[in-house]
Order: sequence, then structure tokens, then C-alpha cells
Amino acid sequence: MTATRRRALIAAVAGVAALVGASVRAEPAQVAATPPMGWNSWNHFAAKIDDATVRAQADAMVKSGMRDAGYRYINIDDTWEGTRDASGVIHPNSKFPDMKALADYVHSKGLKLGIYSSPGPKTCAGYEGSFGHEVQDAQTYAAWGIDYLKYDLCSLGTQMIAAGSLDKAQEIQLAAYRKMDAALKATGRPMVYSLCQYGFFQPWRWAPSVDGNSWRTTGDIEDKFQRMLQIGLSQAGLAKFAGPGHWNDPDMLEVGNGGMTAIEYRTHMSLWALLAAPLLAGNDLSTMTPETTAILTNHEIIAVDQDVAGVQGDRVKVEGGLEIWAKPLAGGAKAVGLFNLSDQPAYLEVKFSELGFAGPVRARDLWAAKDLGAMAAYKVEIPAHGVVMLRVG
Ligand code: GLA
Repeated sequence: MTATRRRALIAAVAGVAALVGASVRAEPAQVAATPPMGWNSWNHFAAKIDDATVRAQADAMVKSGMRDAGYRYINIDDTWEGTRDASGVIHPNSKFPDMKALADYVHSKGLKLGIYSSPGPKTCAGYEGSFGHEVQDAQTYAAWGIDYLKYDLCSLGTQMIAAGSLDKAQEIQLAAYRKMDAALKATGRPMVYSLCQYGFFQPWRWAPSVDGNSWRTTGDIEDKFQRMLQIGLSQAGLAKFAGPGHWNDPDMLEVGNGGMTAIEYRTHMSLWALLAAPLLAGNDLSTMTPETTAILTNHEIIAVDQDVAGVQGDRVKVEGGLEIWAKPLAGGAKAVGLFNLSDQPAYLEVKFSELGFAGPVRARDLWAAKDLGAMAAYKVEIPAHGVVMLRVG
């Protein structure tokens, strides 16, 4: 979709409140019982992605310790698509000579392979989409051994705008996502179904009805502190829509791509963990620094994201650039993010009674890997743009 068309669509749907009366099916969380973890090609490689690079990322995911830390999916984003043959079957372009062999390779590493398409005739980068070929494409993905589909609205937006009313536009969108859900199920192969439509029509209200395992809640992230923050903080209030099998998705990680400092990337990782967001690394895993690896593989932060209770965290308090966010964990403890989003170092104090604890409770600083003892409140100096992540209780 061109920027102009996308802006037109955003304008068309702005201000829409509750839209869809679709009933939500209570499906067991067969896939994505906890937020999906993996890597996606788009943020770093965009169109410069090919078979050899994907294999190198799979190798690096194992070698760096990311697989052992819980990362599983190696996801190919847009620009893999070639043309359809006379029977309508989609083939990859020359960058991906044999998708089945690539899936076999990724599987041999104990990892899973993801792919990308659009419900419209064209993908966001202008490649072949799945419109009119949903059943065929789902069958092709299953035959290749694909484990995850990111389904990105893009050119369907043109049809939604042409529909002339918000209700009709949403009907088109809902039917398209429902169609691919049915096509994926008909293959019998479990695949994570990741909806990508930038938050149009409040997908947290209707995406569970098409058994979406995750749905993008915002436009695209950028490797810039303020954009990351804008997206992350906009998730306040969405916690009640997430849970095992279905997650709000504030877009992929930018950790290690170079546009933020290590302090800022720790803030990014912490906020995504508190949000129970999918953790899809978006950097080049084969060249990352030890500092980037340490941020992506910090097991205490990952444990916050992957907590089995599957409760998304939310904002507790804001005072200027200082924010406190908390996420309930299984067993009654809470993960607590103390954020200093201002441009100067600052002290922040959290009283644990504000988080629902009576009396002194045990606290641990997760990035410092340090037990702090039992206390009723904690005051700490936090660097500019930084975070202190605690586990309390
Ligand atoms: C959209 C999505 C991105 C990426 C690109 C690919 O912008 O939001 O995450 O998939 O399309 O073209």
C-alpha cells in the first residue's frame, strides 16, 4: 500500500469504537500458549533477504544461545514471493530456490520456519498476495513445512476504502482473515496465525474470533527511541484482551539494529516483556555484539514475557517522564518496570502497597540479577531513557 493510501485508510477508520459483534470462540491455546519468540527478517534485511541469509540466522540463533533461551521461529517476511504457475500455485522467487529444503534445514536445528503473505492481491512491498488463492497458499505452506504465517493487510486496504462505509470495510477485513484461518485449519498443520493490520478496527476486539494468535496493534516500529516508546506506551489499557493463545503485538524488536543505546534497548526489551508481547528479534543475529546477545537472552526478563499465567502488564502510574508498569505473574508475584523516559537521570520510588502488596515483600533487580531483600518501598536512581525491572513478591 502506498503511504498516501495507508494514510487515507487510517483516516477512514479513525475514531471507530466497538465495531464487530462476532462471537469469540474459546479455542485451546494449541500454539502460542505463551507469546511467540523468534526472529523476523524485515526490520534489518527488508528486501535483502534470501535462502543463505535465513540459514545463517538459524545457525546464529543456535550458536548465540537464543534457541536455548526460548526463541524458536525463523520468520521470512515480505519479498520471498515469485509468480503463480498455470494452476495458480505460488512459487518463491529466485532468492529462495527450495522452500521445503530451507524448512527442513531450519527444522534440523530444532527451530521453526515462518512465512508472510497478504489477504490482498499484493503484499506491502508489491509482491504476489494470497487474494483468491487462500486455500491453495495454505496448502503450499503446509507442504513446505511452514509453522507460522504473518498475514499483512496492505492491498486489501484499497478494497476496504472502496467499500464506502466503515461497516463494509470491516466486513471485508474480517472475512479475509476468517478465510485464511479456515484455510490454515484445513491443512491440519498447526501454524501460528499472526495478523498484521496495524491496529485498524481495534483487532483486539475481533481477532480472537478468527483465532488469530497475535494481532498488530500499531503501525510499524522504527529503530528510534521515541517511536519505540510511542508504540510501547500506547498499549496501556489493552491488557484484558491478551491471554494464552492470543496476544497483542506492538511489532517486532529493534534490539541490536544500532539506532538506540544499550540502555534504550534494555528499556525496549523490558517494556515488551511487561506487555507479554511476541519477542521477535529484528536484527542480524550472525553479527550481533555480546551486549545485544545479553539483552536478547536475559532469562529473567524473558521469564516475565513468557510467564505461564499469560497476563499482560499495564501502566500503574505516570509522573512526568517517570512511569511504573506492572505485570501479574503466576504464583502471586509481580514484575515491575520503573521507567525514566526523561533526558536526565532521575530517582523513582515505588511503594509496594501501590501494587497491591500489604507489608514488606521480597524484591529482586532482574537486569542486575540481584536480590534486594524484603522491603515495603524501593527508591532507585535510573539513567535517562533507562529502566529498573523488579520482581516483587
Ligand atoms: C508492513 C508490515 C511490516 C512488514 C512490511 C513488509 O509494513 O507492517 O512489518 O511486514 O509490511 O512489506
